[in-house]
Amino acid sequence: MQKIVVEGGHKLNGTVRINGAKNSAVALLPAAILADSPVTIEGLPDISDVDTLASILEEIGAEVSLKDGDSITIDPKNMESIPLPNGKVKELRASYYFMGAMLGKFKQAVIGLPGGCFLGPRPIDQHIKGFEALGVEVTNEHGAMYLRAKELIGARIYLDVVSVGATINIMLVAVKAKGQTIIENAAKEPEIIDVATLLTNMGAKIHGVGTDVIRIEGVEELSGCMHTIIPDRIEAGTYAIAAAAMGEEVLIDNVIPEHLESLLAKLREMGITIEQKNDQLLIKPQKKLTSVDIKTLVYPGFPTDLQQPMTTLLTKAEGTGVISDTIYSARLKHIDELRRMNAKIKVEGGSAIINGPVQLEGAKVKASDLRAGAALVIAGLIADGQTEIFGIEHIERGYENITEKLIDLGAKIWREDMTEKEITQLQNK
Ligand code: EPU
Repeated sequence: MQKIVVEGGHKLNGTVRINGAKNSAVALLPAAILADSPVTIEGLPDISDVDTLASILEEIGAEVSLKDGDSITIDPKNMESIPLPNGKVKELRASYYFMGAMLGKFKQAVIGLPGGCFLGPRPIDQHIKGFEALGVEVTNEHGAMYLRAKELIGARIYLDVVSVGATINIMLVAVKAKGQTIIENAAKEPEIIDVATLLTNMGAKIHGVGTDVIRIEGVEELSGCMHTIIPDRIEAGTYAIAAAAMGEEVLIDNVIPEHLESLLAKLREMGITIEQKNDQLLIKPQKKLTSVDIKTLVYPGFPTDLQQPMTTLLTKAEGTGVISDTIYSARLKHIDELRRMNAKIKVEGGSAIINGPVQLEGAKVKASDLRAGAALVIAGLIADGQTEIFGIEHIERGYENITEKLIDLGAKIWREDMTEKEITQLQNK
C-alpha cells in the first residue's frame, strides 16, 4: 500500500494534458455490450474504475482488448446472460450501468448493489422507476437485484430527481425497447451526450439529449462502431483549481472550456485571469484571491465533483466563502482533514464556511473519497512543509497519473510505500 507525499510551496508551470472523461468512460464500457459486433472506444483514462469495468466485462463473456493504454475494443458477440460478479460490482458506483446494458441486451440482469465513494445516501429509486415503466420486474433476492422483462416497451418517464445515472441507465434500456420512450426532467451533463453519441453511432435513435426532454425510438439491433471519449471536465477543473492555487502559468490542454463555464466564472470572480483558446485554458493566477460563495447544482450549474477542491482554494482567499452542496449534502469528509492542515472551516446546516486567507500546514491526512483526495493533493501543494495523503486508492479511481502530471508541472510530489504501522493505523481508522 502506498501514500502520496507532497512537499508544499513549489509553483506550478507548464502544460498538463487532460484524459478522457471518467464519468463517460464508466458508462460507455457497459453500453458497448448492447452492440452485436465490436465497439472500439478511444481516449480511455488509465484509472482503476476502468480496469474494474473491463474485468467485469471479461467475466461476463465479452472479449476485451486494450491497445496503447487508451483504446479498448469490446466484442460482446459471445456474451451470455449471467449474474454480475458481486465483489467487483461493489467496487464502484458505475457498475449500475450494467443493469441498463444487460436489460437492453438480454431483457434480464442479476446484479448486486453498486459501491463507490461514500457521499451520503445515494439511492437508485429513479433508475428502478424508469426500468419498471419500461416493463421490467425488479425484485431484491438475497442481496441481489433481479431485473426481468418479458418485453421492453417504450414509456413516458418523469424523473423526480435530476439524475445522471438514472438518465443514462434508462437510455440504455430504451434504445432497445419497442416504440417511443420520453425521459422528462432528464439530466444534461456532457457525459450523457457522450453516451448518447456512442449509442447513436451504434444505430440508436435518440433526440433531445442535452435538454431536459429526451426522446428515444427503440430499435431491434445495434452494431459496433468507433468512439472517442470527451475530455474529463472534472480532471481539467481540478488542475485549473491547482493552477489557481499555486500556478505561475499553467496551460490545460485537451479541454472543452464550455463544459467548465460555472467553474471558470467562479475562478474569475476570485481574481484569476483565464484565457480560453479552442481546446485549451491558460490559467494566470493573482497573488490576492477574493472569497466567493458556491452552490453546487445539476449541469450547467457548479459541479458537486469540484466543490471539495474549491474548498481548498478558498482557504487562500481573502474573506469568507460559503459552499453548499445541494447534490450531496454529506460530501464534507475533506473538511476535517483540511482543518488538520490549519484551515479555518465551520460546517453549519450542511454548508462549509471557509475563512481565509490562512497558510495551510503539512500534515498526515486521509482521502475518504475521490474528490476529497484531489482537495488534499491541492492542499499539500499549497501547504508549508510535508503532507502525507493516505487512502490514495480513491484518487487512483479517477485521476490518471496525478503525481506524474504534477511533477511535470514542477510540484514536489511522490508515492511512497506505507509502513506496517501506517497500514494498521489506516485500517483501524
Ligand atoms: N438520486 C436519487 N435517486 C436516484 C438517483 C439519484 O435520489 O435514483 C439523487 C442522488 O442521491 C443525488 C442526486 O440525485 O443527490 C444526483 O445523483 P446522480 O444520479 O446524478 O449521481 P450519480 O449518477 O450517482 C454521477 C457521477 C458522480 C457525480 C454525480 C452528480 C458517475 C459514475 N458518477 O453520479 O461523480 O457526483 O453524477 O453529478 O457518473 C465523481 O466523479 O467523483 C462522482 C461522484
